[in-house]
Amino acid sequence: MSPEIDPGLRPVLPLTSRINEAGHLAVGGCDLVDLAREFGTPLYVFDEADLRARARELLSEFRSRWPETSVIYAAKAYIGRALARLLAEEDIGLDVVSGGEVAIAAAAGFPLERAYFHGNNKLPAELREAVNAGIGRVVVDNLTDVRVLGEVAAAAGRTQPVLLRVTPDVDAHTHAKITTGVLDSKFGLPVAFGLAEEAVLAIQRTASLDLVGIHCHIGSQIFEVEPYYAAIEVALEFAADMMRKHGLDLREFSPGGGLGLQYLREEPPPPVSVYAEAITSAVRDGCRRFGLPRPRLVVEPGRVLVGRAGMALYTVGSRKELPEVRTYVAVDGGMADNIRPAMYGSRYEALSAERPDAPQEETVTIVGKYCESGDYLVKDARLPRLREGEVLAVPASGAYCLAMASNYNASLRPPIVFVADGKARLVRRREKYADLMATEVE
Ligand code: LLP
Repeated sequence: MSPEIDPGLRPVLPLTSRINEAGHLAVGGCDLVDLAREFGTPLYVFDEADLRARARELLSEFRSRWPETSVIYAAKAYIGRALARLLAEEDIGLDVVSGGEVAIAAAAGFPLERAYFHGNNKLPAELREAVNAGIGRVVVDNLTDVRVLGEVAAAAGRTQPVLLRVTPDVDAHTHAKITTGVLDSKFGLPVAFGLAEEAVLAIQRTASLDLVGIHCHIGSQIFEVEPYYAAIEVALEFAADMMRKHGLDLREFSPGGGLGLQYLREEPPPPVSVYAEAITSAVRDGCRRFGLPRPRLVVEPGRVLVGRAGMALYTVGSRKELPEVRTYVAVDGGMADNIRPAMYGSRYEALSAERPDAPQEETVTIVGKYCESGDYLVKDARLPRLREGEVLAVPASGAYCLAMASNYNASLRPPIVFVADGKARLVRRREKYADLMATEVE
């Protein structure tokens, strides 16, 4: 019998993780040490079964409570053609925020009528590209959007369905860099000062725009459900006010995304079912209280859909022991492929892919190879004594790692492999030195 995975780590690992006959960590039936050898490290591995399971969990938890629900994936967490195709198969829509994300979705053949275009400063060219590609909805963030999109849609001979993003002035108690629902935010228009109302009127005056709903998003990695109740109440009260005053027909309502992901064994977020229950009951109560018809619900999870499925693999290199201070163990990646620890102080687990069940012998700090002291991945990780050349796995790396990766120190962005049923398919190759210079013209 092969050993079992440490039950404390189970929730942060891809769904199909197990310890195989070789004693190695395997995902999707593929030995991670073999994958590291075949594709090199750093390497990002995605468990297709996990991606599909999360998509289905989200759809069933919301639709069982609110049948008219669209789950749209926030592509900013990570997007590529393979992922876009998989999500399309699973009946998931997309939240896109740039011409680039629209282009990737379009190249994947993603049904763009299921896509919502967000952003606080959408460029005229991006709006043109999105409208011409047949984007389903544009989420209007400000009055400039109304004017520019109005012109773009008119020129394309389209009536563009839009939602208006309001800032509800609710604090989601998350990291300051990823909170968005407070009044002092660059996103959306507040109900306060009559700014959101002004936008409703501006949209209604624009013949090429059709206001189909209201949107709000209070932040990311939210572990409490109360802020959702509070934000939904503000947004629905506003919608009811606009219905009475200006005839707004609330056909869609979106409370955004922000569902928490488990990164650490000791920090479990509420399960998807708890968010679904909170959000749908808040919308139900709000509609009843404010006399609104029941809209289609649009939820925008990013991190929770892809985070657990993705695992980063590194190779252990140099080691430095500072007695009584710290032991540094360096790997061949770091802030260029995962800037989250440096940027938000984010914490991760780490485990040896070669000896996932080996006893934890020491506390070390896993650092990257880049020229910056802030370049670390895991502070004070409890691990077996890692050997040079050993493959180290960092779980819960599917969201906002690759998407925020850079070429710092002229490093090569890592390859991506999707695994399922014992097969690994390379969906993005490692960059080459030539890629670093591909856009230089002199
Ligand atoms: N909807 C809107 C309008 C958003 O702005 C975001 C995230 C989402 C949905 C999805 O949020 P999620 O479900 O993934 O929490 N780079 C940061 C996260 C930035 C999130 C930006 N907006 C990080 O690594 O934590």
